[in-house]
Amino acid sequence: MPIYEAFNLILMKIINTVSELQSIVSQEAKQNNKVGFVPTMGALHQGHLSLVEQASQACDLVIVSIFVNPTQFNNSKDLERYPRDLQTDIDALSTKKCDIVFAPLVDEVYPEEDTRQFNFGALETVMEGKYRPGHFNGVAQVVSRLFDMVKPDKAFFGLKDFQQLAVICAMTKQLNLPVEIVPCEIVREKDGLAMSSRNMLLTDSQRKNAPVIARTLFESCNFVAESSVEKLKQDVIAKINSTEGLEVEYFEIVDGYSLQPVDMWDKSDYIVGCIAVFAGEIRLIDNVTYKKTNHDS
Ligand code: PAJ
Repeated sequence: MPIYEAFNLILMKIINTVSELQSIVSQEAKQNNKVGFVPTMGALHQGHLSLVEQASQACDLVIVSIFVNPTQFNNSKDLERYPRDLQTDIDALSTKKCDIVFAPLVDEVYPEEDTRQFNFGALETVMEGKYRPGHFNGVAQVVSRLFDMVKPDKAFFGLKDFQQLAVICAMTKQLNLPVEIVPCEIVREKDGLAMSSRNMLLTDSQRKNAPVIARTLFESCNFVAESSVEKLKQDVIAKINSTEGLEVEYFEIVDGYSLQPVDMWDKSDYIVGCIAVFAGEIRLIDNVTYKKTNHDS
């Protein structure tokens, strides 16, 4: 292990309780230090670590949470098999400028059942919201609780979970939280597959075929000028479904702000294609931006 990693491993604090976290956070606030927060469910890869890097560039103190949130899993098997390896995650974080790892137990985050029901309107009735009912309510529950504990100035989220990012922005607005949400680009494997903690659950042959998802999305960008939205959509679905072991659950071409389907390319200045694909029992998501003319928002 390089010397700086060993050093950071000693400096980096591993915290399991809210009270310990809050005492550190209140000290930092007194010193006017900017707190950057990266919430994760662990099984960390370069995608997560890129968020940590961006947080460390923008903030004085970086807090990463590792918590597999039970309330956002609508499938108990998915929760059960979600990969967990805290020590490997801690080692990975020690290679970055991470100051605090917050890894609480379920009772620490939910001393009582969280019965709050959020309402994100049309944002949560499509795509992930439609196919994983209750998922975003669970995400909003845990992220709002974590925000309350960490009190971050900035929180970093990946564009890989495009709809999650939109829901978090809506939640932050609804609850009037004083945190800036920072979107971060998707990090991919060399073959294009979007990095995901679930990739390690793929069999060798599933892993071999999974890059077809990203490749098909990227190739489809070349047809925007000549193909209708509907035809491009059907072509993407057919191409992926024709690959052994892959089955598209949904592919939607949507307005990047409202997440509602568009039927013509000139209907919005921000158009994104969002996809969920089953590789056997493993569900993979990805997205591609077809059009973004206003880069400010
Ligand atoms: P998790 O899937 O662990 O992801 C944590 C963060 O890493 C999310 O913001 C996600 O979008 C980002 N991320 C994952 N893969 C990425 C990639 N390939 N490139 C860039 N960013 C990537 O998302 C969750 O956890 C949970 O829902 C959470 C927000 C922590 C709430 O429980």
